[in-house]
Amino acid sequence: MPDTGIARILITEDEIKTTVGRLGAEITACYKGMTEELVVIGLLRGSFVFMADLIRQIKLPLIVDFMAVSTYGDGTVSSGDVKVAMDLDQSIEGRDILLVEDIVDTGNTFSKIIRMMNNRNPRSVRVCTFLDKPSRRTAHVDIDFCGITIPNEFVCGYGLDYAQRYRNLPYVGVLQLK
Ligand code: IMP
Ligand code: MG
Repeated sequence: MPDTGIARILITEDEIKTTVGRLGAEITACYKGMTEELVVIGLLRGSFVFMADLIRQIKLPLIVDFMAVSTYGDGTVSSGDVKVAMDLDQSIEGRDILLVEDIVDTGNTFSKIIRMMNNRNPRSVRVCTFLDKPSRRTAHVDIDFCGITIPNEFVCGYGLDYAQRYRNLPYVGVLQLK
């Protein structure tokens, strides 16, 4: 197998490229004709690889900001707590914001962040996720732009980690759980 610890490839580099292209086109079409720049907000750290590719497929004026949140420790099971380790750099009041996530699993993180963002009175809030794992959903999340729906498996690569590792894999793989 390609890298130690990865049992198999779930999503290839080609599939990632096609998916990001499609999402960029959907987002571009959705916001076409907007008067102010879109604010694209990435949730660190998992979304940074996806975010870098995605913004280059959005053919609109935009600005980028990041927020660091954490739910998981160094394991594969969510603790349920969402901690804001680094907040946005700018106000989002009256702005159109697009939140970008690597994966929506239980929905716990994203639902809490969406609520937090809405409390700051933006003009609109839409959400984009690269991966969706709906089988484990416990908190409802309205996903406006969804990349690929995956089964209930722990995945790594393309920004997603296991204990901070594997983020640099150019594909998404299934972790070999010991
Ligand atoms: P949720 O709050 O359960 O939706 O999980 C949110 C976060 O858990 C995601 O942003 C990821 O950082 C992490 N996560 C969930 N599933 C996976 C996975 O299969 N691989 C790597 N990280 C994951
Ligand atoms: Mg994440």
